[in-house]
Amino acid sequence: MKTCAIIGSQWGDEGKGKITDYLSAKSDVVVRFQGGNNAGHTIIVEDKKIVLHLIPSGILHKNTVSIIGHGVVFDPIAFLEEIKDVEKAGINLTPENLKISENTSIITSYHKLLDSLREKKGPVKIGTTGKGIGPCYEDKSARMAIQLKDLKDLDILKEKLSRSFKEKEVLFQNLYNETNYPTIEQEANQLFELGKSILPFIEDTFSYLNKAYDDKKNILLEGAQGALLDIDYGTYPFVTSSNTTFGGIYTGAFIPPSGIDEVVGITKAYTTRVGEGPFPTELFDDVGEAIQTKGHEFGATTGRKRRCGWLDLPLLKYTIKTSKLTSIALTKVDVLAGQSELKICDYYEFQGKKIECSYPGLDLSKVKPHFKSFKTFNDNFEVDNYIPSDDLKQFLDYIEIQTKTPLSIIAYGPERSQVIIKKEFFNN
Ligand code: IMP
Repeated sequence: MKTCAIIGSQWGDEGKGKITDYLSAKSDVVVRFQGGNNAGHTIIVEDKKIVLHLIPSGILHKNTVSIIGHGVVFDPIAFLEEIKDVEKAGINLTPENLKISENTSIITSYHKLLDSLREKKGPVKIGTTGKGIGPCYEDKSARMAIQLKDLKDLDILKEKLSRSFKEKEVLFQNLYNETNYPTIEQEANQLFELGKSILPFIEDTFSYLNKAYDDKKNILLEGAQGALLDIDYGTYPFVTSSNTTFGGIYTGAFIPPSGIDEVVGITKAYTTRVGEGPFPTELFDDVGEAIQTKGHEFGATTGRKRRCGWLDLPLLKYTIKTSKLTSIALTKVDVLAGQSELKICDYYEFQGKKIECSYPGLDLSKVKPHFKSFKTFNDNFEVDNYIPSDDLKQFLDYIEIQTKTPLSIIAYGPERSQVIIKKEFFNN
């Protein structure tokens, strides 16, 4: 038995889908513990591209149970659309292979509207995915959220919706001059109707997971977004509204911290970011453009162009600490092949000091990155049993030595097979 967590170690989009898919195949249970359909995990299976937003990647494997924990914010409309897509790919979703916590918070039309109004007219532009994630977590913290179990009862729904709506209506009408939104009656009816298709999946996931843990099952915890988007440890305020780091596992799904054997930090061989916020190693030149193009760096959820830059060791070392990473899965190594330059940010200079590892209060917009250059490599990744060239090995070894963290997986292409596994995570 083993429990293994997957955490994005940068600003999301590290290629978690492929690694999660690989590890899911050997897991009995796969659990999402935070975020919502702001995530987009792309998996390529036999030329078919499947993008999962809310449903855990375990769903692609016959003998794996997928769990959506109570720390997730859940959009019923997006979920039902995703079910259709997954079923089109020939996967059957049943209450046996998909279980959703009765306490997940529900994203309503009001959350989505508030998210988009704030992005258009609010005081701080975060560059959110516009999926209503932040406003839903706000209601959760304000103890006014609708939970999945509330979808069983129309009267409860109306009563709970009206609690949070009173404040939102003031914002819509008086601050944002917005009058186009559903009444409580309409919203409650819609959620109640949607609930009929979702409630069969409802489960006491806490007890289910406790039992799976006690029964010594292989459990995979599937993080979404990345550690630098964590509400507490990330580049606040340009973050998402959940704990994307290790701590989110316990609060969002259960499995005690001491019960997690491995934490794999999925790390792109370079860095990308969507939305606003500081990005010390960002490239504004042809190299950045070439990486963006070759890496197809467009958001899986919003289609936005991702900003690109070099791998940033001070940030990676910080994530190793905040999520207690036991190893790194380095992804998209192939994208760096044949580029005209190859660099890694070794350290920052900040107020006359050398900073080798970032920390929560550091103003990343004011640091000066210092880079180490590497010999470029031009490996042919198409060969069977591919082995990295000596030039690429120098780059890989440097990351391992500097971070004092082993590279357990190296991914060099989108296919399931394009991966070097240096460590087995589950023994059966
Ligand atoms: P929100 O999660 O939609 O509120 O967006 C907050 C910030 O997190 C924005 O900068 C988004 O671009 C970013 N973000 C949210 N989800 C993802 C993701 O899955 N990948 C990358 N960035 C994300």
